[in-house]
Amino acid sequence: MDPFELLKTDHRKVEQLFSQLESASGKRKLEVFKQIKTELELHTQIEEKIFYPALEEPEETHDLALEAYEEHAVVKDLLKQLGRARTANDEWEAQAKVLQENVEHHVEEEENELFVKAQAAIGEEELEELGDRMEAEKARKQRGSSSKKSGAKKSASKTKSASTAAKRARPSKKGTSKSSGSKKSRSKKSAAKKR
Ligand SMILES: [Fe+2]
Repeated sequence: MDPFELLKTDHRKVEQLFSQLESASGKRKLEVFKQIKTELELHTQIEEKIFYPALEEPEETHDLALEAYEEHAVVKDLLKQLGRARTANDEWEAQAKVLQENVEHHVEEEENELFVKAQAAIGEEELEELGDRMEAEKARKQRGSSSKKSGAKKSASKTKSASTAAKRARPSKKGTSKSSGSKKSRSKKSAAKKR
């Protein structure tokens, strides 16, 4: 597998997602962001685990590889901060724009400098091998995250059914109690105090 093709495909996918993010609004924005986060985390992981260590060795790519790690660190930090948000407010949008600009700069530097130098510094066979390893690692990680997701879904449906059971139990309680209006308001007050 050509490692450059593999990584470039990831880059184009993330670019598309960023343009979707620009046109999305409300909750959809956070949904698109989640996809960007998943893509970028997977992409940076395979690069850092397999690709960059190989580029650290040749003199021609050494400095750029080290710079790439640093750029990833900035991107990962921004992803973490943005991932905490519940709504996409103006500050969030500003930070998302900074993330996009950082990713665009990083991608440009990789494709126009790092990949070109790597192509010249590393033998064809080794490059193929790196591509194969990255492809396999990506597939392995994707399988792992999808099984994690289905696990999360299961536990989410459990909580849902538990809360519906609680909802079902409540009205029957109300129905049997013949409390007067004043009692009701008192119990409401005490409930409020408890909170
Ligand atoms: Fe990268």
